[in-house]
Amino acid sequence: MENGHDIRVIKQFDTIAFLQDTWDHNQQYQKYLLQNIPQHCKCILDVGCGTGELTEKLSRYAHEIIAIDVSNNMVQEAQKRNAHEKVTYINIAAEKYLEETDKRFDVIISVAALHHMNEERILEAMKAKLTKKGKIVILDLVKNETVVEYVLSILATVVNPIIRFIMRGRIGIPKEEREAWAGHFQYDTYLTIKEVKKIVTRALGKGKIKRHFFWRYSIVYNQGA
Ligand SMILES: C[S@@+](CC[C@H](N)C(=O)[O-])C[C@H]1O[C@@H](n2cnc3c(N)ncnc32)[C@H](O)[C@@H]1O
Repeated sequence: MENGHDIRVIKQFDTIAFLQDTWDHNQQYQKYLLQNIPQHCKCILDVGCGTGELTEKLSRYAHEIIAIDVSNNMVQEAQKRNAHEKVTYINIAAEKYLEETDKRFDVIISVAALHHMNEERILEAMKAKLTKKGKIVILDLVKNETVVEYVLSILATVVNPIIRFIMRGRIGIPKEEREAWAGHFQYDTYLTIKEVKKIVTRALGKGKIKRHFFWRYSIVYNQGA
């Protein structure tokens, strides 16, 4: 999927940028992602950083963090909400940045953004900008395919309001947030695990792929392993 350049999608992200940062399933898996990041990195790249919720946390792992996003409002909000002396936020499309930069990264991380790009091409571009022992760490949304996945998805739907109540103190989603995301989801399509496996094999050669309970998958690629 490659809708990250669609002006309608960018406009939606420009609106979504003004929503409050709050607990969601991307945030839920941050701990897992951070466990896969080595300490004392020189430079980390956060692709599709949004309002910088994760970016700021990356400052504990690296001397320098570059965080890029195609939505100008996202970058503006990230600078307001999650500024850090180690972090540079840049308003640019990932494809363009990866093509133009001379930098090499110890880790390239991306959360809930890969499906807005051509997944295979962007993984190849990320791999080309890694240091010798560099890592790619991805979290993105997944499409159900097997019966087991559909059953798990129903279970997740049942458990979801309970977790949301625990984490946010409310069961429902505020109208403003619901409407902003509903408009957005109409443009989204996601990969199945089978498709992810094929793409990872072609683009990276190897990588640990994990399907998570709440409609997400992750890829951890370690160039040095
Ligand atoms: C669902 S948000 C996730 C934001 C953040 N990573 C998080 O987890 O909170 C996806 C982000 O990817 C950005 N994005 C989409 N396509 C992009 C592209 N081609 N280059 C850079 N950023 C992109 C969007 O603007 C949006 O901020």
